[in-house]
Amino acid sequence: MSYKASFRVWRGDADSGELKDYTVEVNEGEVVLDIIHRLQATQASDLAVRWNCKAGKCGSCSAEINGKPRLLCMTRMSTFTEDEVITVTPMRTFPVIRDLVTDVSFNYTKAREIPSFTPPPELKPGEYRMQQVDVERSQEFRKCIECFLCQNTCHVVRDHEENKEAFAGPRYLMRIAELEMHPLDVADRRDEAQEEHGLGYCNITKCCSDVCPEGIHITDNALIPMKERVADRKYDPIVWLGNKLFRR
Ligand code: SF4
Ligand code: F3S
Ligand code: FES
Repeated sequence: MSYKASFRVWRGDADSGELKDYTVEVNEGEVVLDIIHRLQATQASDLAVRWNCKAGKCGSCSAEINGKPRLLCMTRMSTFTEDEVITVTPMRTFPVIRDLVTDVSFNYTKAREIPSFTPPPELKPGEYRMQQVDVERSQEFRKCIECFLCQNTCHVVRDHEENKEAFAGPRYLMRIAELEMHPLDVADRRDEAQEEHGLGYCNITKCCSDVCPEGIHITDNALIPMKERVADRKYDPIVWLGNKLFRR
């Protein structure tokens, strides 16, 4: 069964823009990205949208649908009523390039700031051994498709451009936690997480976890354990004594 849906799509560039109204055909089984593609094919050939896999795996088609951060390709039209106006806007936290496409380079900058996996120097590749339980712990974090919806949602940077320099965001704090929990990573990442990547800005609101299309428990399994490790270090009596003696 087909019907005509009312869409409001943000059109514009870095300088200015506005919501434009369209009426578009919808067919059974379609997702929002199908409708955006139909819009391009029939009424707005210059509409910019980023996508690649149409299977929820490349993380390219992130946007906001009725104000909620979502993947366009994983949002079924059947979740809306036929008379509902569906508003599609670009991710708010990142600068707009054009229409629904944003400049997500903030995330690449943050990724580069995290020192990579640091195994013990005496071990050669091929000699790494670890317990299955440790493999499984990090596997959840490895499901990340880098859609940046969590980064877009976190209130620490969503309306606070001024916090971007000091805060890596949930996706990259999770990366630090993954490395910190890795039994073969010898770098001590706790001070860095707190002081250079802004772990202290996170007040565990869990909004990041709520929008993750992979269902990763970012807050419960990465950010809170990381905060606990930072607190353990701070209140460790030996570390406290060391700081007193050597960091005056
Ligand atoms: Fe996207 Fe989830 Fe990865 Fe964040 S953690 S970038 S929401 S897949
Ligand atoms: Fe932001 Fe997630 Fe923490 S939304 S405040 S990083 S729990
Ligand atoms: Fe790949 Fe949507 S197009 S996640």
